[in-house]
Amino acid sequence: MSTTDSKPTKQLAALGVSSADQVQALFAELRVEFDAAAGQAVDENSWKNLRDGWLGRKSGVLTLVTDNWLKPSSPELKRAVGASLNELRKHVDEQIETRRLSIEAGAEASASAKERVDLSLPGVIRPVGTHHLIRQVFQEIEDIFFSIGFSVVEGPEIETPYYNFEALNIPEHHPVRDDMDTFYLDLPKGVPGPLLLRTHTSPVQIHTMEKRQPPVRVIVPGKVYRRDNPDATHSFMFHQIEGLAVDSDITFCDFTGTIDYFIKQFFGEGVKSRFRPSYFPFTEPSVEFDASCIFCGGTGTAKTGGTCGKCKGSGWIELFGAGMVDPAVYGFVNYDPKKVSGFAFGIGIDRLAMLKYGIDDIQVFFQNDVRFLRQFP
Ligand code: FA5
Repeated sequence: MSTTDSKPTKQLAALGVSSADQVQALFAELRVEFDAAAGQAVDENSWKNLRDGWLGRKSGVLTLVTDNWLKPSSPELKRAVGASLNELRKHVDEQIETRRLSIEAGAEASASAKERVDLSLPGVIRPVGTHHLIRQVFQEIEDIFFSIGFSVVEGPEIETPYYNFEALNIPEHHPVRDDMDTFYLDLPKGVPGPLLLRTHTSPVQIHTMEKRQPPVRVIVPGKVYRRDNPDATHSFMFHQIEGLAVDSDITFCDFTGTIDYFIKQFFGEGVKSRFRPSYFPFTEPSVEFDASCIFCGGTGTAKTGGTCGKCKGSGWIELFGAGMVDPAVYGFVNYDPKKVSGFAFGIGIDRLAMLKYGIDDIQVFFQNDVRFLRQFP
């Protein structure tokens, strides 16, 4: 405290004050002192120091003035001291409140300035993902079959051997089961089994025919599993689209015409299709469809000369298996084989995508490397 600060600790007689004029002069001096201190209170901390220094109950300046100037003053001076003290207290109270309000308003203004959203700044640009190439190929194939009256159905990835094999005319110990070795589930005791991860989408043929009466025209996209060792063309999890059409008068001609239409839509009008005999227990006759090589135009000669490496000079590329539904299968779903006929096919999506987009390793589909994924926006 300054010189004035020490004065409130002394009594008026010790300060040599004996008249009302001197009392007024003393209070005026104190008020100047206060105004100067109040001018320094610019934030919460300095404001608290000001308040405690002047209004503090024990040793605030006004308490000292009351104790040392007012209480012991002579009866003649008491009135003057009391009046000046009241005036000073009023001034101090008002000023301290005014400063509090202005400090609070300043703090609010600077906080809201900090929080204000600057609309002129550029926004946050989040990268937008795209469909995986496998999903895009599914979509392409679905669109082609939608356009000729097929609809999509889905089925479970966990199957019973009945749906995956038996109802498809593949009894236990049939050698075809060796080509479709799969993963069996470890089931808790008491849970009826066995259960397995489906090896193909063909079980959904059975689920569909159990639920619907002909005409049936469906495709079934989905994941399938086999105990195959991974290499450039094999994965233990891959994708298929099953197709099934059953009606009262579906012929082999309808079948090959539908597949030819699909191949032309998918690879281009100039691409030809052909079929060769094959074998599946659930189709009779069974065939394997080929497309004329999309790389050499079916000539067997590479554009740069020499043998085409993709079709190995044959001019044809193997695509997928299919056939007319074996009448034995209708027996499992209570269709009358004398009244209905139909065809089915099963397309391996991963290998079809590799062919169309020139990808030479199936594993890149499952590695999630964005450098690969970005090439198929
Ligand atoms: C089947 O799965 C039959 N269900 C297809 C079918 C359906 C025939 C309806 C007749 C009627 P296959 O085992 O050939 O057939 O497999 C079909 C396709 O799956 C193959 O052409 C191939 O493209 C793909 N594929 C098979 N194994 C793998 C594997 N490990 N990794 C990637 N693709 C595979």
